Amino acid sequence: MQENSCQVVRLEDYAPSEFLVEKVHLTFELAERDTVVKTLMSLRRNPRSTNREQTLFLDGIDLKLRSLHIDGTPVADRDYRLDESGLYLFGVPDVFELQTEVIIQPQDNTVLEGLYCSGGMFCTQCEAEGFRRITFFPDRPDVMATYTTSIVADKKRYPVLLSNGNLLSSEDLPDGLHRVTWHDPFPKPSYLFALVAGDIVFEEGAFVTASGRSVALRVYLQRHNLGRGTHALEALKKAMLWDEKVFGLEYDLDLYMIVAVDDFNMGAMENKGLNIFNSKYVLADRETATDLDFQAIEEVVAHEYFHNWTGNRVTCRDWFQLSLKEGLTVFRDQQFSADEVARSLKRIHDVRLLRTVQFAEDSGPLAHPVRPEAYQEINNFYTATVYEKGAEIVRMLHNLLGKEMFRRGLELYFSRFDGTAVTIEDFVKAMEDAAQVDLSQFRLWYSQAGTPNIRATGNYDESSKEFCLRLQQGCAPTPGQSDKQPLHIPVAIGLLNSTGTEMPVCEVGHSGTDCDTTAILPLKKTEQVFRFKVSERPVPSLLRGFSAPVRLTYNYSDAELMFLTVHDSDPFNRWDAAQQLVTQVIMRGVDRMADGQAFMVEPVLIDAFRQVLHSSSKDRGLAAQMLMLPSENYLVDQRLRIDIDGICTVRRKLREALSDALHDEWASVRQACIKDTSAGYGFSPEEVGCRSLKNVCLSYLAAQSKAGFWPQVRQWLDEADNMTDRLALLTLLAEVENAESQTAFAQFYQRAKDIPLVLDKWFAVQSGARHPLIVDKIRRLLAHEDFNLCNPNRVRAVLHTFARGNLGGFHAPSGAGYHLVGDYVMKLDRLNPQVSASLAGSFSAWRRFDNDRSALMKEQLNKMFSTEGISRDLREIVQRSLQ
Ligand code: ARG
Ligand code: ZN
Repeated sequence: MQENSCQVVRLEDYAPSEFLVEKVHLTFELAERDTVVKTLMSLRRNPRSTNREQTLFLDGIDLKLRSLHIDGTPVADRDYRLDESGLYLFGVPDVFELQTEVIIQPQDNTVLEGLYCSGGMFCTQCEAEGFRRITFFPDRPDVMATYTTSIVADKKRYPVLLSNGNLLSSEDLPDGLHRVTWHDPFPKPSYLFALVAGDIVFEEGAFVTASGRSVALRVYLQRHNLGRGTHALEALKKAMLWDEKVFGLEYDLDLYMIVAVDDFNMGAMENKGLNIFNSKYVLADRETATDLDFQAIEEVVAHEYFHNWTGNRVTCRDWFQLSLKEGLTVFRDQQFSADEVARSLKRIHDVRLLRTVQFAEDSGPLAHPVRPEAYQEINNFYTATVYEKGAEIVRMLHNLLGKEMFRRGLELYFSRFDGTAVTIEDFVKAMEDAAQVDLSQFRLWYSQAGTPNIRATGNYDESSKEFCLRLQQGCAPTPGQSDKQPLHIPVAIGLLNSTGTEMPVCEVGHSGTDCDTTAILPLKKTEQVFRFKVSERPVPSLLRGFSAPVRLTYNYSDAELMFLTVHDSDPFNRWDAAQQLVTQVIMRGVDRMADGQAFMVEPVLIDAFRQVLHSSSKDRGLAAQMLMLPSENYLVDQRLRIDIDGICTVRRKLREALSDALHDEWASVRQACIKDTSAGYGFSPEEVGCRSLKNVCLSYLAAQSKAGFWPQVRQWLDEADNMTDRLALLTLLAEVENAESQTAFAQFYQRAKDIPLVLDKWFAVQSGARHPLIVDKIRRLLAHEDFNLCNPNRVRAVLHTFARGNLGGFHAPSGAGYHLVGDYVMKLDRLNPQVSASLAGSFSAWRRFDNDRSALMKEQLNKMFSTEGISRDLREIVQRSLQ
């Protein structure tokens, strides 16, 4: 076992850095084999550090030290020491200049942190701790310095040399080299440093800020992708305008650059002035990207742009505060997208993600608070909890304070902390001070892990005409936190009368007559009762708009859910009522199957679906969402004990039954959608909604394919003029074994083989297919000449899609799926620990499965754990999973 395998970093141990860096000048002499990095930095003792030691430690990993000077004098051998984590300098003065020269090997860098090569160019990824792979440095976010960066490279091969900030100079040098120098005037932590070099081109745009600064916008891409950056560029302009309008926040440099790279561990990175993106979140045109891709690009572009204030101008004191920038920035990009597209669809989309991914995380061994208290490897904490639950907390604050107060709170936050590195507590305090509210109980959302459960029960008293709503909250223990306290949970509710009209929500004792039709109940205790004056027995609409990230249960009858599906004025809750109804029906089916009874469809569901279909033309996008069955991932999370066979089987049979019972409706609604989009291809919410409803109908038609259906599908595929439709058709073909399917995949491959992002889809569609021989299929895909273990997108397309999205296949009773994925976790770990650790997470729920599966999953985890030399990333995930 590695010596440092159990090193835990703790929030309570935080201490300010002993030394601060004011200025850094970096010079890169770029070469694939040996890149030389010369660093000149001015250091001084931190007046706020209590430690008076004369030893300075600088982080550094995989750096070959060539020279070391303090104030121009070489450092003697006895005055420094190197180990695998960095450099110790003994007896340093209080103020001095340090000059280092190191050699790094970008072409061997498969972890994709620090400086690496991707598709013939150089790029960097420094968050969270990648800068230490570039040079010796106090690589922590509370050390903020101004950076000047010179890059020297072969001019022919690397004509474009980029770094943060503004271009200072560029000149030609002998031997075909050139040198470019950049300067970023804003002090920043090392994780925001960036460098790019390559033979790349850009698409350009311009933006003039509210105060009149003209900003050049550039999206850099490989030459063959020219034209595919336009959507990202437009999204950037929209985001810039939105942030000025909504929060009064302007951009602060003259240049904003986005660079698309093919090999990237995450989605994108907000480096100051020079964002580096996974090309998946930049490149798009109608031929290569789906409607969802277009939307995701808009979200990610906006997200990284918004970081310029929430993340860069005000950054994190330490990595425990990660949600300070991520939760807040996700909230901001969600608000932006909601303003751009249909608001309720955006909310449905976000809540789906939260419920499937974050809730699962929060109820398993990897559960952690939004502000974690300890970690071994920080890369393991870029989680749905830190991001998505973090955003939900900010959303609750926004609702509690109101739009105006929230904006004022943010203003106070920036006026207090601009240019500094702060904590989540600093943020909450600013909100509290601005709005003059007491958030002491609310703060628990950041420190307490686990999804709260709310049990709601309603009681109507005919004689007093009072509706009494009892809310009880609780939360199951999570690792390291057995005792949970009640949280402050805002529960938004409405009350519908028997005709489906909203009644004012008036608490008994409320004096005025100004009751709203939606009220936000402040649930703060373990149990609270709220009483309302109503004119008749109401159907309550609970947790409207998903006002808090909780699981709420209420004893609704099928009829009440049907009623809400049709009448609720909150579209989110209409969708949610439909989901609850289907989920209820499926779970009853699973129970019956476990009892040995045969499958049957409950007529109530057919009625509900028929109604949605009949009125679908009113809002097709919403109808499409209501008609999609809850995902297997969502269903398995409904019970502590996972009956995987029951869920997969009942869900499939239900789909077939709905297909059959409503065959004519699926066909006619599909036709209606086609008729209304025949004018051409556009991106309005209506057109996007039309495409999604059309394809949902199609998926039901495929479930009971009638004779002649597949040749039809082939023909539609030939006629399709956009990727959304093409991919929907291909997804259906992936689940059958016939001539049409074979030719379709062969043809798609021909079109895709030179476009990596499209080829990813070709892989992913097959990996996600419900298919009896799926494990063999996956093996073939992994052996395909275009499969590449070094490219995270490709790995995710095959392995993550399978392990996380194809539950029937991954959990095949033989354990073959586990075996395959377990082997690949180990293979990947030698190349890229971030990717292997995230894949290993698919075993974490092992305890919730039946005994056989549970044992097989555990065996894989044990195998990983007992392997020598596994990464710290993987070790932590495995260890916590087994604990
Ligand atoms: N800050 C980036 C974003 O969310 C993500 C960077 C993640 N990097 C990592 N090594 N986990 O916009
Ligand atoms: Zn972010």
